[in-house]
Amino acid sequence: MSSAEGVIPLCSLDDIGEGRIGSAVLPDGRRVAVYLVDGRAHATDDRCTHGESSLADEGWLDGHVVECGRHMGTFDVRTGQPLGPPCTKALRTYPVEIHAGQVMLARPALPGGGEA
Ligand code: FES
Repeated sequence: MSSAEGVIPLCSLDDIGEGRIGSAVLPDGRRVAVYLVDGRAHATDDRCTHGESSLADEGWLDGHVVECGRHMGTFDVRTGQPLGPPCTKALRTYPVEIHAGQVMLARPALPGGGEA
């Protein structure tokens, strides 16, 4: 599978590990946090909606809940919805799938479904 088939490789599963947070940079420069929980991958914007904190660099993952390392706000990585204060705004989520040991982003997730 390649980006020509409608998906964009984000990172290797080896780069993340079960129950951990990885990161990747999209072709448009946005940084996303990539989570591996129970063998399934999830992806959200990396930047906490409460501030400038990187969830991949400063956050903690407990099941499907990521806790921001700066003010301990929490989000559900499956939906991006805030679960605990001070976060009130949802994270953007991205549809991802695992193929051949790689986490892949569906190209329609990009603005306008456009080219990378
Ligand atoms: Fe993430 Fe404040 S910056 S909770």
